[in-house]
Amino acid sequence: MKILFVASEAYPLVKTGGLGDVLYSLPHALHARGADVRLLLPGYRALLRQLDQVRILGWLDVRGADGMVSVRILETRHSEFAFPLWIVDCPRLFDRAGNPYVDAGGQDWPDNAERFTVFARAAAQLAQDALDLGWQPSVVHTHDWQTGLVGGFLADQPLRPKIVFTIHNLAYGGYFSHSDFVRLHLPSHWWTHEGVEFHGGFSMLKAGIVYADAVTTVSPTYAAEICTPAFGYGLDGLLRSRRAKLHGILNGIDTTIWNPSTDVYLPSHYSAGRIQPGKRRNKQALLERFLPHVDDAAMQAPLLGLVGRLVGQKGIDWVLAAIPLLLAETDARFVLLGSGQAAYEQKLARLAQQHPERVMVEIGYDEPLAHLIEAGADMFLMPSRFEPCGLNQMYSLRYGTPPIVFKTGGLADTVIDTNAATLADGSATGFVFDTPDVAALLEAIRHALDLYRQPVQWRRLQQIGMRQSFDWSESAGHYLTLYST
Ligand code: ADP
Ligand code: GLC
Repeated sequence: MKILFVASEAYPLVKTGGLGDVLYSLPHALHARGADVRLLLPGYRALLRQLDQVRILGWLDVRGADGMVSVRILETRHSEFAFPLWIVDCPRLFDRAGNPYVDAGGQDWPDNAERFTVFARAAAQLAQDALDLGWQPSVVHTHDWQTGLVGGFLADQPLRPKIVFTIHNLAYGGYFSHSDFVRLHLPSHWWTHEGVEFHGGFSMLKAGIVYADAVTTVSPTYAAEICTPAFGYGLDGLLRSRRAKLHGILNGIDTTIWNPSTDVYLPSHYSAGRIQPGKRRNKQALLERFLPHVDDAAMQAPLLGLVGRLVGQKGIDWVLAAIPLLLAETDARFVLLGSGQAAYEQKLARLAQQHPERVMVEIGYDEPLAHLIEAGADMFLMPSRFEPCGLNQMYSLRYGTPPIVFKTGGLADTVIDTNAATLADGSATGFVFDTPDVAALLEAIRHALDLYRQPVQWRRLQQIGMRQSFDWSESAGHYLTLYST
């Protein structure tokens, strides 16, 4: 089966969050099961700089905002990828410093509508083998709003591949204006309520939903949640009407990259059968990164870790409200890594200045530190208000760092709350609160801190989490079935 993946990021070349992880691990899982895969990405400057050898497959002329744009299609073999990567090279749109979606000030690139329309047009042409490469996919698998238009461009074509669209996060709708729609010469028959029109503008995410043969999202619970007004961002009615083609398929994780017994970023390795002293050594290394002097008190105090985008989704405001109370009433310490909204970054940095021994904060994006926090922290904070799937909680389970999560989306599907019954039957893996507020988060953290003081129970909890299987085997099978039906 030939599958063309089309996406705006893929680890390790370009990653802003879990989307990048999935666009590395899912195509590899399918490739390992015999699929013939290509992954198409935009030629961002940072990405092109990481490539050694590229081959020019050809040129495509596609319509942009001011007439035709000539894009070069490159193919490369990269040591981290088992299959060829294809790249849409268009310097005017992608050769710039920084983030794929926003400028240095955090504002969306002003030409995002054109960037991802040109990318989608090129993708649709490649999906029809416009370059005569002799490679025609039977499935085009697109991801999030940046690729939402691909299905639209293909939908009317004869002999077209099956179009699958995955929603990784409904909060990002790819909304643009009517004048963008006109300037980009998007087909006028799309401009209806049943098409891409959305509150006077248009939404590329909506296009993805409307024109795909199958829509998936990244956990069963999120698939149900987005059909309700509370999680639907105004698209819940559309999603309810398309319920028959909407599937919730839980993400897997890459168990080679995220494996505490081999992780290249860890100073010490460990496994479910022998957690200590490896995990403790990672805690020591993590603390040493922030503190000039790591004493017994620091090693013994429970350490709560957090890694993530600092945005409202992740419940950062709840964490900011909870930390001062926990500093006053417990000996807990915190290590937090993230970047995002300036107000959250500043508040976290201020807390760290006020409590340098107990609140350790790194603002930025740091892959090695993310691994060290998963391994070195004692418990992992992920109180997201909503979470389509979430990968960090699965990493933390695998690293013996029980997660504290809100019962939503993929968090609800992957973490089992600790209570008398789940402890007794050996299913407990973390701490789940089900009221969306600070009080409930605090209660869950206090519960975790209590259990942490009971080493036998705690080790059991760690081991059960570490033995969960979150690899892709089951979900890759679901995708293959979906592709072929
Ligand atoms: P989301 O995709 O919503 O950001 P996920 O939990 O699915 O959330 O995935 C987040 C991914 O991004 C994880 O691999 C996590 O380790 C990584 N990540 C997020 N923020 C940072 C950061 N500041 N530094 C390093 N890695 C980060
Ligand atoms: C999105 C979601 C996250 C999910 C990731 C990969 O970024 O916010 O929950 O794990 O995509 O699917």
